[in-house]
Amino acid sequence: MNKSQQKAHDIALAKGNKHVTLVTGYDYPTGRLLDELGIDIILVGDSVGMVMLGFPDTTHVTMDHMIHHVSATARGVKRALVLGDLPIHSYDTVEQAVESARQLFEAGADAVKLEGGVSQADKIRAIVEAGIPVIGHLGLLPQSVLEEGGYKIKGKTEAEAISLEADLKAVELAGVSAIVLEGVTPKVAEKLTSLSTVPTLGIGSGKHTCDGDVVVIHDVVGAFPWFVPGFVKPKANVAEVMSQAVRSWVEDVYTEPKK
Ligand code: KIV
Repeated sequence: MNKSQQKAHDIALAKGNKHVTLVTGYDYPTGRLLDELGIDIILVGDSVGMVMLGFPDTTHVTMDHMIHHVSATARGVKRALVLGDLPIHSYDTVEQAVESARQLFEAGADAVKLEGGVSQADKIRAIVEAGIPVIGHLGLLPQSVLEEGGYKIKGKTEAEAISLEADLKAVELAGVSAIVLEGVTPKVAEKLTSLSTVPTLGIGSGKHTCDGDVVVIHDVVGAFPWFVPGFVKPKANVAEVMSQAVRSWVEDVYTEPKK
């Protein structure tokens, strides 16, 4: 087992033993800080498109963006598992999925994440067989926002709950080390968690429903004031602290006497 596989194995073994923490990070200082703080998984998510690059959603993110941000983040991380998101259209076929995963791995990711269940199982299996750990992503899938006409909570109907169970089993059998459950009703998130043999990591899926919790760094520190998801309680107001610091610097520039 190489170092990355060992880290992914440790995450899988956390099921029932330890609550897993996953925080997004997209650059060297954030990766380094989160690593030093003891966060278990640092996700270089394709949410980079929105919170760092100014796109309206994740469908604009490319492999070039991901490689750039994964390598910057990984340079700051010594201990945590660095997880790189495979962006939209980087895993349309099995061969492309393995090649894209290999590129993120070479950029410094220990594991990759891709969205979808039954339909993606063959790609997950092939990436895992190529020696690269995979974390699944089920429920609300941000890369499908345009097809679905918005962000829709999943698991509201019996049919959706049954289809999520099938997705969970498919990605688990394909060899994932953990599964992100995004935007799933709390009741269904709890049921999926009880069915899963690997840790489920929840975001927008209710409180205390999963084996681990996920947060986007900008949301939890209040660094992106223009949009904050309703399920996040920001713990700081970084945008305000930055504004005050810059205002104070500007004041000094205008008021300090010239020598
Ligand atoms: O890109 C991202 O930040 C994600 C999380 C929402 C899980 O995929």
